Amino acid sequence: MQQLTVNLDDRSYPIHIGSGLLGQPELLIPHIAGRQVCIVTDDTVAPLYLERLCRTLEGYSIMPVVLPTGEAFKNWSTLQQIFDALLAARHDRRTTLIALGGGVVGDMTGFAAACYQRGVDFIQIPTTLLSQVDSSVGGKTGINHPAGKNMIGAFYQPKAVLIDTDSLATLPEREVSAGLAEIIKYGLIRDRDFHVWLEDNMPALRALEPTLITEAIARSCAIKAEVVAADEREGGVRAILNLGHTFGHAIEAHQGYGNWLHGEAVGAGMVMALDLSLAQGWISTDDRRRGVELIAAAGLPIAPPQGMQAEDFRRLMAVDKKVLDGQLRLVLLRQLGEAVVTADFAPTNLDSVLAGVGQ
Ligand code: NAD
Ligand code: GLY
Repeated sequence: MQQLTVNLDDRSYPIHIGSGLLGQPELLIPHIAGRQVCIVTDDTVAPLYLERLCRTLEGYSIMPVVLPTGEAFKNWSTLQQIFDALLAARHDRRTTLIALGGGVVGDMTGFAAACYQRGVDFIQIPTTLLSQVDSSVGGKTGINHPAGKNMIGAFYQPKAVLIDTDSLATLPEREVSAGLAEIIKYGLIRDRDFHVWLEDNMPALRALEPTLITEAIARSCAIKAEVVAADEREGGVRAILNLGHTFGHAIEAHQGYGNWLHGEAVGAGMVMALDLSLAQGWISTDDRRRGVELIAAAGLPIAPPQGMQAEDFRRLMAVDKKVLDGQLRLVLLRQLGEAVVTADFAPTNLDSVLAGVGQ
């Protein structure tokens, strides 16, 4: 087992990564203050892993809350189901919420924990590759609004993150690719050597070769933990974790939440960010090619959905959380392994990237 730490002073917490962790009570018990535990999961993950987790936590008063699966349910009325269950079972302020599932369950459980009785403890047990390398770490929680992705939420850190790599065995191939999008992101924004390592190992990573996928998860979490520790509430550097996301969130909202997976939209969005970085003259044609080839090799789309027009992007990107005083800021690359958050790009270059969509 590997252990990393997200360093946030008295709110620091461990990330445990390894095989068989779901069956290890000693990793969870130190982070559970009371006797009440509410396990939030979805109706895909529940039949796979809920019983095992309940067995691990034998002796606690456990209440499972099983939500409908999918991004389309990441909204107020699903969130309300968690509050209804907590109140009906009289969970008090010492209750601990556990998110057992992908990023949708994790983001909603974290937001519920942030709000319930003004804040109770929660633990992340991510079961998708995407949630293991990204959403379970760093404390961004929330839900979607029809007008924009993740627009309602809170920064609220978990007490611990438990990444059991065995849970990847049941993950559909398409979801593996979606997770690889966020892994590729870390190389592009922060670590050229990691990008090269991913180029060398992509087929084995897609096949979830145990040693390699564990290393990819650990390297990704290490980068994320470092960035979050430096800028927890995204006043600055943390925004680089959103490479491709401004374009990607527009794709997700335009297609209807859930039709394009988050990771797929990020894949196509990162290609648009590479294109704009190239148009700025910041990256070379070769760097652009290598980025796009790696995204394609992960089984991800490298172009936005057909029929989505430049105007759709403009309208949807205008509500991005990185917009400040009406000015759009984007994450672009200065070179492979170095990102910048900037409003300082030529509008004509963005025009030409957007002119290429919808073809
Ligand atoms: P998801 O939670 O919808 O999970 C994807 C699918 O896989 C679902 O159908 C789920 O039921 C199923 N699943 C989960 N674990 C499984 C397993 N082990 N075996 C089989 N099926 C399994 O989606 P996701 O890709 O995990 O997360 C995407 C969400 O995360 C988006 O809402 C995105 O906005 C959010 N996100 C948040 C952050 C953050 O920092 N908070 C970062 C990145 C993404
Ligand atoms: N996924 C982006 C972030 O956590 O900041």
